[in-house]
Parts: sequence; C-alpha cells; structure tokens
Amino acid sequence: MPEAPHGKDRFPTRMSHAGRAGVKIHGFVNPGVHRGSTVLFPDCDSRKAGAAKRYDQFMTYGTQGGPTHYALEDVICEIEGGTRCTIFGTGLAAVAIPLLAWLKAGDHCLMPDSVYGPARSLADTLLKGWGIETTYYDPCVDEAGMAALIRPNTKVVYTESPGSHTFEVQDVPAIARAAHARGAKVLMDNTWGIHHFQPFAHGVDCSIQALTKYVGGHSDILLGSATVNSEEDHLVLRAAASLLGQYASPDDCWLALRGVRTMAVRLKEQGAAGLEVARWLEGRPEVKQVLHPALPSHPQHALFRRDFTGTCSLFGVVLQPRYTQAQMMALVDGLRLFGIGASWGGFESLAIPTTGFVARTAGTGDFGGPTFRVHIGLEAVPDLIADLEQGLSALPR
Ligand SMILES: Cc1ncc(COP(=O)(O)O)c(C=O)c1O
Repeated sequence: MPEAPHGKDRFPTRMSHAGRAGVKIHGFVNPGVHRGSTVLFPDCDSRKAGAAKRYDQFMTYGTQGGPTHYALEDVICEIEGGTRCTIFGTGLAAVAIPLLAWLKAGDHCLMPDSVYGPARSLADTLLKGWGIETTYYDPCVDEAGMAALIRPNTKVVYTESPGSHTFEVQDVPAIARAAHARGAKVLMDNTWGIHHFQPFAHGVDCSIQALTKYVGGHSDILLGSATVNSEEDHLVLRAAASLLGQYASPDDCWLALRGVRTMAVRLKEQGAAGLEVARWLEGRPEVKQVLHPALPSHPQHALFRRDFTGTCSLFGVVLQPRYTQAQMMALVDGLRLFGIGASWGGFESLAIPTTGFVARTAGTGDFGGPTFRVHIGLEAVPDLIADLEQGLSALPR
C-alpha cells in the first residue's frame, strides 16, 4: 500500500490515508506518539548534515519536530492544498509567528476590522511596540480599495474570511491581486473555511488554521498550523518558529491525527445541521438577521458561492433592535444544550454573545441588534431547535 497522500482523491479518501504510518511500524495503521528532546546521531558528520537540513522534516532535536509532527504536517498540507506546513502549540501562535516572520520595525500591516480579537491585540500591543503599524480595513474592501490602502512599507495583508464573529466573506483573490502587485504577502486565517476554501488557489501565501477547532474536533486539544506553498516561504516561517522556540506537544498532534480521520464526516453532518438551524432561526420574528455565509440572504453570499465548496457550523444571530444586550445575554444563559464557550469546532453546541465584546475601529460590524454566535455540534437538530425555541419564546413580545 503506498504511503504518500493521494492528491487527486476526494477529500474523505485523503483524510483517511494522508500521514499514516504505512508499514514502517510493524503494520500498525497509525503513527505512534514520538516524544523526545534529544535526537542521537550515528556520527559527527551526520549531525552536520542534519543541521544543514533542519527545516526539512529532518530530525535533529526535539524542537525541530519529530515523526508525529511530520505526519500531522503532511495531513494539513492535504487539507490546505499547500506544500509545507509548520505545527504550533496553539492557533494563536500560528497567527502570531507568521506575522513576526514577515514583519519588522518600520513595516506596515493591514488587518480586517473583523479579525479574531487576540490577533488584533497582538497588533495593538507587541507589534506596535516594535514599530510595526497596523491599519484596520473594511473586510468587504474591493481590489481598488485595497490597492489604495497599501503603502510602500506594507509588507503583510492579513485576511480572515469569513470573520469568525461577524462572518463577512472577503474577496480574497481581489485582495491578493492588489497585495501582490505591491509586493506584500497575503496571510489568511482559514480556520472557518478548513478545506472548503483552498487558499493557494485564491492567492494566499500563508494559510493559518486553529487545529483546536474541527481538526481536533473533540474540544480537548490546542494546536495551530501555518501552511505555505513555496520552499522560500517555508524557510522564512520555519526559521521564525524555530528561533522563537515554538513547539507542539506530540500527544496533541497524535490526537489531532486521530480527530482528522473523522473530520470529513463531522463537517458534513455539522455543516448541514448548522444550515438547518440557521434557516429555522431566520424564520423567527425575534431574529433580525442570521449571519451565515451559506444563506442566500448573507450580503456576500455570491462570493461564498464563488470561492467556497461547503460550510462549517459556526454563524451569528442578530436579534431585533427592540431587544437589549441584557435580554440577549439572558437568552444565551437560559439555553440548556448550548454551552457558553469561546471556542468552536467540537462535537458540542455552543453559544456566546458577540456584541459589546468585539472591538471595531474601521466602522464596520454593527448589524443593528444584539448579536450572539452559535456553534452547532453533533446533537440532534430537533433538540437544538427546541432549546433555541424556548429561549426565543421567553423574550418579551
Ligand atoms: C478564527 C480563529 N483563529 C484562531 C484562533 C486561535 O486558536 P487557539 O484557541 O487554538 O489559540 C481562534 C480561537 O478561537 C479562532 O476562532
């Protein structure tokens, strides 16, 4: 049986076969958990050769990764359609290190106003302190608008599509055209899109995923990845990760490898369930708008249809303006099956208030009513709808 990923097979097939152990470990299907700091060399010459190849899946020391990391890197390359991947201890580290890799003092960075909160905090604190300026742009910017924002010192255009709180779908190919024409790298947080958005076919240079979400799938690990599509970008990224001492637990990588084997099934199930709940919510009189890119009512639905091949199960719900923030929070507090949690992508449903919690500075993100975010897990849809129904019905008429 061949060991290499099957690039031309369909996604579920590739998720079953990529990054497997092959026949190397006595025929066992899965790679083992390789924990380790010291790597022994047979002789001094081998050590020298290893040092020269240290960003090349070549084991020289624990921090450079080992067989469990490399197996997961191969799987993530299959998901993203890229050539080289680096695994990080959290999704946030996978956001931070590429920014540090491609930005230096005096550079300018562009970030969408809808960006994941901790990425914004990084830009506003550490990056700012190091002399890197960030401008927040309207996530729905077009190519000309993006071109106008790019300065001679703009080195990174960051994207996150859709925004993970307010779900604006970005025109990533247009943004990438404007960025590349002016020499800037395009980074993207592709956690929502997973494999439904192929970043490198749409002009992205470095695609970031919080593997904590659907790849892990069971709310029991924290991991991140940054994938690139050229050897040159890989060397820049891997060097930054290495110099900053980045490392991910092999046990967590193993759990991610286990999670990914069922991801295609979970995503299919949860994506469909999320859409069913979103459609139901859209029909409720208490709801002003459902922020789900796969609904025809979504303002960027056409972009979603053009660039995405499917959906995950995370979306937003805007209540009618007659309701207060306190009433929305009481609704969320009163849900029986939806935990109040900041993460997503696990088997369990979650809800969390978003208005009043997400800072915006570019004048976007006001949907005219109190808003909460919903993650649909693997529970039965009628049970979830019944829970939401009791919550919405308890709101004053
Ligand atoms: C869109 C997005 N990117 C990155 C992250 C960071 O992932 P982690 O929690 O693993 O640091 C999150 C976590 O919520 C997220 O929602």
